[in-house]
Amino acid sequence: MNRPPVLLRTLTDLRANTASWHSEGLTVGMIPTMGALHDGHLALVEEARRRVDRVVATIFVNPTQFGPKEDFTAYPRTENSDVAKLATLGVEAVFAPNAAEMYPPGHATTISLAGPALGLETDYRPHFFAGVATVVAKLLLGGFPDIAMFGEKDYQQLLVVRQMVKDLRLPTEIVALPTVREADGLALSSRNAYLSPDERRTAPKLAAALEATAAAIRSGGDVAHHLRQGFNALEAAGFRPDYLELRNAETLAQPAAVADQPLRLLAAAWLGRTRLIDNIAV
Ligand code: PAJ
Repeated sequence: MNRPPVLLRTLTDLRANTASWHSEGLTVGMIPTMGALHDGHLALVEEARRRVDRVVATIFVNPTQFGPKEDFTAYPRTENSDVAKLATLGVEAVFAPNAAEMYPPGHATTISLAGPALGLETDYRPHFFAGVATVVAKLLLGGFPDIAMFGEKDYQQLLVVRQMVKDLRLPTEIVALPTVREADGLALSSRNAYLSPDERRTAPKLAAALEATAAAIRSGGDVAHHLRQGFNALEAAGFRPDYLELRNAETLAQPAAVADQPLRLLAAAWLGRTRLIDNIAV
């Protein structure tokens, strides 16, 4: 039996715990999450477990990354079962603050971004990455972990966080893991819980459209044509796509030519009232 994780509610307590581990010469890994944990999150925890001596998972539904019409209130909150899952993986600490702890009354400081934050999600959720980057900075400054784990599922977020850590010279290595999927290809997401049974049957067609479009791009020909076909396939399947775009995998810049650079195909699409995102390497 693993010891249950210590539940931390304040940045002061987070700091005290990680500082004491570091003073003993132990390495620390952090997994930032918004909870409603699934096997994608748990893969990040397990990889951290393999890499460092002490693991701290964070659970915080971050209000500043939700738009006024988005699902902040509806977002699933399942702290007790999340902590139980983290306990079975032998996590030493869970940091689950309230909103006032992360955003003291009158807070007025936000991280401003460019580079990989431009376009894609930002075209549809303009305040999203400033909210993500600000809260991730607070978490990393709260614990100074040696590593922090992020999923490729949120590929643009991963690159935004990498850029921020580099630019702010934060002493944390960002470790990325591939997207964990259901057997039918659907990327695991806390938001999949919103899908009706019908929508759940359609949802894997997002990953399928990405696969088909990536295969078409790899085989050559007109990229714009392949992207249009992929977009049409999503609409035909019942999605309302926000975007399906091909980008440089390291910078997210628009590729002038497809040769000689790593490429990533990224999509966001609505299925009813649920917005799904996914991406794959090309
Ligand atoms: P959340 O959506 O809970 O995701 C937490 C981490 O789990 C992110 O790094 C995300 O990319 C990763 N993840 C989610 N689904 C995954 C999957 N199917 N396979 C692999 N990894 C997956 O992303 C956030 O929370 C927030 O924006 C956060 C970074 C915590 C800041 O609030």
